[in-house]
Amino acid sequence: MQAKELIRKKREGLEHNPKELATLVDTFLKGELKDYQMAAWLMAVFFKGLSAAEMHTLLQLMWKSGSTLPRRHRNDYWIDKHSTGGQGDKTSIILVPLVTAVLRRLFGPHCARIPMVSGRGLGRTGGTLDKLESVPGFRTDLTLDEAMALLENNDFFMMAQTADFVPADRLLYSLRDATATVDSIPLMACSILSKKLAENVDGLVLDAKLGCGAHLANPEDGRKVARLLVDLARGAGVDTVAIFSRMDEPLGYKVGNHLELEECADFLSGTRRERGLREVVLNLAGLMVMLASRRKLSLQEAIVECEKELEECVCMDVFRQMFESQGGNWHLFEQNRGILRSEMKFYVAKSPYPGYLQSINASEVGQLINELGGGRNAKEDSIDPFVGIEFERKVGDRIEKGQSIATVYYRKLEQEKLIEHRLTNAFTISSSAIAQSPWVLGMVE
Ligand code: URA
Repeated sequence: MQAKELIRKKREGLEHNPKELATLVDTFLKGELKDYQMAAWLMAVFFKGLSAAEMHTLLQLMWKSGSTLPRRHRNDYWIDKHSTGGQGDKTSIILVPLVTAVLRRLFGPHCARIPMVSGRGLGRTGGTLDKLESVPGFRTDLTLDEAMALLENNDFFMMAQTADFVPADRLLYSLRDATATVDSIPLMACSILSKKLAENVDGLVLDAKLGCGAHLANPEDGRKVARLLVDLARGAGVDTVAIFSRMDEPLGYKVGNHLELEECADFLSGTRRERGLREVVLNLAGLMVMLASRRKLSLQEAIVECEKELEECVCMDVFRQMFESQGGNWHLFEQNRGILRSEMKFYVAKSPYPGYLQSINASEVGQLINELGGGRNAKEDSIDPFVGIEFERKVGDRIEKGQSIATVYYRKLEQEKLIEHRLTNAFTISSSAIAQSPWVLGMVE
């Protein structure tokens, strides 16, 4: 069937057979099917959707479109985690050392491994790779051979997608980004899972964010994506669970690449742990440990093991190892804490009256960081790792008149008006006390 016929078929809402989808993906990868034809097909999918069978086939075609990670030992358990993303979501960087330390203690070294291929920030949401790269020298552009050596020796790595890793997703994602089709639920599900399945994992934990700062603004869509991801991944043989967690307020005390990594270090060392971050981390870590125990541990038992690890702070060693083994200079990163505060301009947002902090709009905060240069609008944009915001108070906290709510770090004096405007929209202060809501809102099991 010709490209034009395939586009017409989807435009009419008809179902493709596996052979048609294979033709579509193969000819696109070879450059025979043109970008404008694929863009038209993607838009047809955006409006007409894909059936369960079509998604299953497209997912298989995508994850097998390039190299996948080879499994050398059959008895080790490979596990990863994916979040749909939001402001201040730094959990992956905490989970890798925390879960590694728990699993080593419970089952011994090399019994479980975390091969983590992560993404960059786009728009108002940050990305794990950008946060990691705020450690001077840290390399995310590992070759697959380098990554496999780290996985063999350290039991984990954190890296970017290579040219040969799920090329179908790389090419399709760029087109979706340019044609406003990123938020098609079936395309998003196939895109996310194609990378996780190419890692060849046995278990996967998903964090579907709900709220104004989440990728999908409508909570019903967020729930649909989570259900779909779990069903599709299980259909491909991966033991998968998902949580829903709040993204109406930024997660943790800090947003911005360097600041978020500071918070990860402070969290693991026990210096400072924000309530929401602790709750989300413990649930995700617990689920990862539960799956890696091959479900011999219950979620509650697994969470207790993770809490023990946080008490003892042993995982700080694994955290440092994570940076050093990929070329990062942790000592310089620690020095940069001071440099950030002396080099950057700062704006302190103060409360105009006494009361309780009722909301911090995550979307406004993400937009602000992006506009100040801490995020990117196109994949090739560079970012300023020092731009960010540090909250002195979070939702539910009591605040007196003139007390500081947050400090914004920025570069240019003329950005002050923008900061004032965004923060006025971001904060709401109420005269009555606010009940603290849970951060984990539910689970797809
Ligand atoms: N992340 C992905 O990897 N793909 C999407 O489509 C959206 C978010």
